[in-house]
Amino acid sequence: MSARRPLVAGNWKLNKTVKEATALARDLKGRLAAARNAEVAVAPVFTSLASVKEALAGSAIALSGQNVHFEDQGAFTGEVSAPLLVDVGCTYCIVGHSERRHVFGDTDENVNKRVHALLNHGVTPILCVGEQLEEREAGKTLDVVLGQLALGLANYPSAKAKEVVIAYEPVWAIGTGRTASPSDAQEVHEAIRGRLGEIFDTETAGAIRILYGGSVKASNAKDLLSQADIDGALVGGASLTADTFVPIIEAAG
Ligand code: 13P
Repeated sequence: MSARRPLVAGNWKLNKTVKEATALARDLKGRLAAARNAEVAVAPVFTSLASVKEALAGSAIALSGQNVHFEDQGAFTGEVSAPLLVDVGCTYCIVGHSERRHVFGDTDENVNKRVHALLNHGVTPILCVGEQLEEREAGKTLDVVLGQLALGLANYPSAKAKEVVIAYEPVWAIGTGRTASPSDAQEVHEAIRGRLGEIFDTETAGAIRILYGGSVKASNAKDLLSQADIDGALVGGASLTADTFVPIIEAAG
């Protein structure tokens, strides 16, 4: 049995006004009041972070950013930095999400800079990796995923490595209703853990949580989460209501 505590994180993406986000946070706080094995985090849009933090006060639900710029401050119009995420109460931040990589042009190199910016300020990165459909069909899944992993974690200090969170999100499964089968996902998660063992060491790799993301919902969560190397979920669409998100958290224990 793994000692890794499951993490279920809701990525709200570009959804919800402050009022809607706060209402969902309150609803989650009420429904998740009892102590549980799984850890829970939510990632609202930047404009809702402060209000959601306030709504979650007194609950164990953690707050996450959806992205971060790698400089702390300065002439970077439109960006948000790691110290500002700390200021508003974030303990996690997603980096390298496929929408960032494929819609906004984030590269492995600047994903790595974001990871280091978070580390410098004590925010835990949730580093996303994942292949596109044509890469999977060309048999390149592991090359792509393990390459993104190694570059995203370049120069990561091993003393802090056990805390990092990896999210495997096959791009073709995001928002499509198409999920990787539990065994296909497990195969990639196992390979990720193997590469983490090479980057760090086996003991460290065994402590790092690897989440699965891509059309996770109540009906498939249990099968995915029962795989040996799947330590939780990064949930998009199904995290937007308590009715669809809470059962996923319950499936994680
Ligand atoms: P969906 O759960 O909507 O497929 O989104 C997954 C995702 O991208 C989470 O970061």
